Amino acid sequence: MKQYDAVIIGMGRMGRTRYESMTRHGGYVIKAVCDSNAGLLDSYQCRKYTDWKQCIDEEKPSVVVVCTYNAVIPDVVCHALERGCHVFSEKPPGRNLRDTLRMKATFLNTSGQVLKFGFNHRYHNSVIEAKSLIESGFLGEVVAARGVYGKAGNLVKDEWRNHVELSGGGILLDQGIHMLDLLRYFVGDFAEISGFTDNLVWKESRGEDTAFATMRTADGKVATLNSSAIQWKHKFDLDIVLSNGYIALNGLLTSTRSYGEERITYYRKDLEVKSGKLGNPTEYTMCFDEDSSWDYEMKEFYDAVDSGKPIINGTIDDAEQVMRLIETVYKESGNAR
Ligand SMILES: NC(=O)c1ccc[n+]([C@@H]2O[C@H](COP(=O)([O-])OP(=O)(O)OC[C@H]3O[C@@H](n4cnc5c(N)ncnc54)[C@H](O)[C@@H]3O)[C@@H](O)[C@H]2O)c1
Repeated sequence: MKQYDAVIIGMGRMGRTRYESMTRHGGYVIKAVCDSNAGLLDSYQCRKYTDWKQCIDEEKPSVVVVCTYNAVIPDVVCHALERGCHVFSEKPPGRNLRDTLRMKATFLNTSGQVLKFGFNHRYHNSVIEAKSLIESGFLGEVVAARGVYGKAGNLVKDEWRNHVELSGGGILLDQGIHMLDLLRYFVGDFAEISGFTDNLVWKESRGEDTAFATMRTADGKVATLNSSAIQWKHKFDLDIVLSNGYIALNGLLTSTRSYGEERITYYRKDLEVKSGKLGNPTEYTMCFDEDSSWDYEMKEFYDAVDSGKPIINGTIDDAEQVMRLIETVYKESGNAR
């Protein structure tokens, strides 16, 4: 396997997660890690930097992985692209649509380079299973979806997510973006979105604790989203309604296991009164006990770098489309930034 020199910028929680999955993959040689907080770098056996520009300019890596705060992402991504690097960046793609479009413009000026964003939920086993079930046609056409993604937020002052100048927004941009991306993935591109954000409990926070949105595709498929930092108990539920059946994704495996067991349930409609199953068809459920999403994601990125395979998940167009939806909801709520 060919190995590519890589650096990781931002060695907090996600930097460590990416480091581990890149090491497991074997196709990356992590030459250096960088974090403005030098104390986070002690345990790594490679070169260490506290200045990301110096890290990229001195190391001249083939691959740059960006795991900083949202506000820093666009500068690092653009600089790395301008230096000829392939770039994998965490979501969200910047604090706002302007940031995303800036990265897009820089990317469009490159050739033969890869840019991918970390919409890792697409690689959860229940999501992969749902996608192939939909593509099999067994349950008919997707016509609607409902997504609820909630967590117990907090107002810890030194948490960068609570500072909108660093994060760009609240729960919709931080976590709801994953559910929006999945709704697009399963239902299609949304031509319309209407929604609002609010601070129902954390009144003193500048980032919203609640978002609701309704979307419709050009061909009339509909979806709704509720993104919440005041769910108090972690929750991930995605219902997909098809012309001949139904799929539910409940729970999501994470390192803390706080979103519960990851399950996919589906059934085909049974409208036969004779079968006795009218309104209560036979259900099939699968449970998963492994989260390989980080590994699948770094593999797709590697394959694109190594053999020029196109990026399927987390393209700059995915990034732009989801940020357009979020921007519209923020504008309708009077808190576009
Ligand atoms: N894909 C996912 O599911 C997922 C999950 C969590 C976080 N994220 C994203 O990952 C990114 C990081 O989140 P996190 O949870 O790891 O946060 P974190 O606070 O644990 O880590 C961020 C790190 O970036 C460093 N940093 C900030 N500015 C820097 C700079 N100018 N130069 C160098 N280092 C800098 C900080 O010191 C910190 O260590 C965010 O964009 C977040 O939205 C994605």
